[in-house]
Amino acid sequence: MASSLTAAGTQPSAPSFSGLRRTCLKLEAAVSFSHRVNSSIRLVSSSQRSPRGVVAMAGSGKFFVGGNWKCNGTKDSITKLVSDLNTATLEPDVDVVVSPPFVYIDQVKSSLTDRIEISGQNSWVGKGGAFTGEISVEQLKDIGCKWVILGHSERRHVIGEKDEFIGKKAAYALSEGLGVIACIGEKLEEREAGKTFDVCFDQLKAFADAVPSWDKVVVAYEPVWAIGTGKVASPQQAQEVHVAVRDWLKKNVSEEVASKTRIIYGGSVNGGNCAELAKEEDIDGFLVGGASLKGPEFATIVNSVTSKKVAA
Ligand code: PGA
Repeated sequence: MASSLTAAGTQPSAPSFSGLRRTCLKLEAAVSFSHRVNSSIRLVSSSQRSPRGVVAMAGSGKFFVGGNWKCNGTKDSITKLVSDLNTATLEPDVDVVVSPPFVYIDQVKSSLTDRIEISGQNSWVGKGGAFTGEISVEQLKDIGCKWVILGHSERRHVIGEKDEFIGKKAAYALSEGLGVIACIGEKLEEREAGKTFDVCFDQLKAFADAVPSWDKVVVAYEPVWAIGTGKVASPQQAQEVHVAVRDWLKKNVSEEVASKTRIIYGGSVNGGNCAELAKEEDIDGFLVGGASLKGPEFATIVNSVTSKKVAA
């Protein structure tokens, strides 16, 4: 008893994670938010921040980490991955979601801890029916999914899905109660042509035009050049777009949505680079591909939420 009191008492003033969130102080939130957006000065100061300083979250949403398993795995490899996830220690203050291939969702649902929610990797644009090869939102719900990933660059650029179609899918999924991980991101040539913001805002607008509410939307900024390439965006590159996305939401949707909506980063996130990325104020989590196929490494990425805490 005494020792546990002592142990607890060793860090009496250690700030809690949620205490760092700017929206806990509403007035300060409003003021600092307006100072923050559109501020290139802030980007500079953010990149020069002392590593031992307080790192706050600009948004008010809970840290969110999704694992996108894509078209990978077998019954055996997924059994092992689920077992590794079930035994991993995960920080409590994180929403954790995995997105297995459709054919393994049932296996995962029946064996994975309830601590982790399940997402589909895609869904049909409306009610199911005569749509060969498609999976409906109703079916995803029936099998226990709470989320769906929409607008992933592999669906945009390999399969050819267009902004408006993706927006309609999002609206339908939300109307049926699924959460949507709404992906946006520019290709390398678009970045090099200085069109990063234009591309991201167009994709964002297609979601905004379609969805009735942002309550269950998580925006995933995934630069296409960083996906599966091992070429991760620098924390500053990612932060720059995340700030811009939050600012876009503020101007085009509402200040409340800008604050509440999680904006997560995806593209070659791994156990080695997640902590530095997570320190950026507007990075509210990650969407992870390759590294989510390894349970311990995925757990490290989930637990990078701790780099948002004070290191003073
Ligand atoms: P990656 O994929 O982590 O393998 O780059 C990310 C994604 O596509 O969501």
